[in-house]
Amino acid sequence: MEASPYLPALDYISNRMDGVQGFLSPLDAGLFLALDLAQKGAGVAGDMAEIGVLHGRSAFLMAHLLRPEERMQAIDIFDLYWPNPPYNHPDAFIGNALELGFDLGRFNLVKADTTKEPARVLETVGQGKARLFHVDGDHRLTHILADSKIALEATSPDGVIVFDDVFSYLMPEVTEGILTTFKGRTDFVPLALSPNKAYFCPPHLKSRYAAYVIECLPNNLDTEVRRLLDHWVITFSAEKPVVLRYFDKMGGGGGEVLHRNIQGRNIDFSLPP
Ligand SMILES: C[S@@+](CC[C@H](N)C(=O)[O-])C[C@H]1O[C@@H](n2cnc3c(N)ncnc32)[C@H](O)[C@@H]1O
Repeated sequence: MEASPYLPALDYISNRMDGVQGFLSPLDAGLFLALDLAQKGAGVAGDMAEIGVLHGRSAFLMAHLLRPEERMQAIDIFDLYWPNPPYNHPDAFIGNALELGFDLGRFNLVKADTTKEPARVLETVGQGKARLFHVDGDHRLTHILADSKIALEATSPDGVIVFDDVFSYLMPEVTEGILTTFKGRTDFVPLALSPNKAYFCPPHLKSRYAAYVIECLPNNLDTEVRRLLDHWVITFSAEKPVVLRYFDKMGGGGGEVLHRNIQGRNIDFSLPP
């Protein structure tokens, strides 16, 4: 039987991700895979992008999901202000990428302070080009507002934007910045919340993305439907071991059968009062 195209990503999550410094959790890794699968089923194409790559923990998972013609836009301040902080030497990212066996051509390293040069970042990443954009840079308010603006412009109208630490009591500026940015927006609306991240997608694909997220993640995560900014949103409970369904069996036509099954049951919920 043909091997599943998701095996490298599964191997990375299970065996290698913990060797890379950073914060992506297995639950969010599972959500990234489910969203990628939804996009591949719907023919949504484009690069992946991340503001704040640090040493690559989340960027490498995203890179594992790229189609051959797609690239990982890895945006970070890196050593721009050396010897002053923040300081993140790109060699750590590059060294990890090589150790994991990546072709460096898959990455476009964008060294920038996103609050100082948003136009250059956007020009490099491309308007509307990213199908999955992960915002995980500095968590102060000016940064959140600047980074959300870049993400909203750089993400494809069919894509997904993910923000880190949106509802952490330790990072109230992220909460403020995200609620300010998304209140009343109609192009990107809340889709899902994990303990660490908030996911936003365009309304015309929300029921499709929701079906993949619910179908592909295990059913022991106490999933609920709640209300955020006048939209329903799927919430997942605190961390538990995440055993992803289906991804190891996607080869040899398994993917097509799964897409047919999931696409037959797009999920829409009524808005909780
Ligand atoms: C929390 S870490 C990212 C973690 C990473 N995404 C992961 O899950 O492994 C935040 C990153 O944002 C970068 N950063 C901080 N301020 C920035 C700025 N103004 N522009 C671009 N990157 C910035 C830092 O260099 C750091 O690598």
